[in-house]
Amino acid sequence: MTKAQYHIFDPVLPEEEARSLVRLCEDFGTYGMYAEEPVKEGLGAGLAQRHDAARNFIMTGGRFSSDDPIEVLGARTNYFRETYAYAEPIVAGIEGFHRHEGFMEAAKDIFDRPIIEPAIVYANLLVPGQELAVHTDVPEFRGVNRTKDPEWLIVAMLHSGLFDKWRIPIATAVSWYQDCEGGEFCFYPDGKDAAPSTIPARFNTAVVMDTDSYFHGVDRMKEHDGPIPELMPGMKLVFEGDGMWRIGPADAPLARYRWDEMRFSISWKAYCFQDEAEREAWRHHTDDISQQQVVDTLVADLRKRGRLGSSLPDDQAELAITIIDEYIKYPPPASAAA
Ligand SMILES: [Fe+2]
Repeated sequence: MTKAQYHIFDPVLPEEEARSLVRLCEDFGTYGMYAEEPVKEGLGAGLAQRHDAARNFIMTGGRFSSDDPIEVLGARTNYFRETYAYAEPIVAGIEGFHRHEGFMEAAKDIFDRPIIEPAIVYANLLVPGQELAVHTDVPEFRGVNRTKDPEWLIVAMLHSGLFDKWRIPIATAVSWYQDCEGGEFCFYPDGKDAAPSTIPARFNTAVVMDTDSYFHGVDRMKEHDGPIPELMPGMKLVFEGDGMWRIGPADAPLARYRWDEMRFSISWKAYCFQDEAEREAWRHHTDDISQQQVVDTLVADLRKRGRLGSSLPDDQAELAITIIDEYIKYPPPASAAA
């Protein structure tokens, strides 16, 4: 694997603009928990969208191999997310960030592609004791995307290297607006078997890289007042004013946090096209691959590798797990690394 190219930004924005993003976050006010529903039907029905990352996290206990019980591991990764822009800005005040020139130039450089189309901007909020399991992001291919295909399958497509012809490279910026204790961005620029690098989360800094190809995660946020509460899917994080946030209802909160013990990041993603013809093919679906073609290609490759016999398993989940295990190879936890 070639070494990841990445660009660091320090600062990301003039200070006053960066502070205005903190106010935008407060004004937005309520953040839902990013916890996924399992895929209901079709290939791999019953598995989580990111079965690959969830299983790796539970099996290893995270980057530092914690021996927390499964409910605690769940609470650690049930962080909070809301979307600020999707193709177009959704929230007033995010327009400048959505078309950040430095990010766009970095995206061009990383993929050596001249046409950059900003796609999505979203905020992630982590409370003390939370972390983000090591993963690669869900990439995109013409004809296959997360709105209709299982996320683990799209991730396996990228790692298989068999579908590059249909891939739309996506550049990702991760930017931070808090000086955090813990919560470092950890990534593997030299590939999964080499030592990772970490970037501390500091106010008004960012990194731009290919997070679809390179593994990354967020190390655990320092716990201040005892262990993490039982954070369950469906809970909300609400800004109360005066630098305070709350999880749960006002009259019976599960926890309260000060801004300075939390982690607030904004992610930016942009499609990177080689030329107008490629952008048009993506927009108008003139050169798509279907999910069936993807599965047929993977099955043929698995047979060539001796991982599948001539008949397919009756259980579709079994085929899904064979695909995940063969193509998505996670970095070893820190304790096991050389
Ligand atoms: Fe990510």
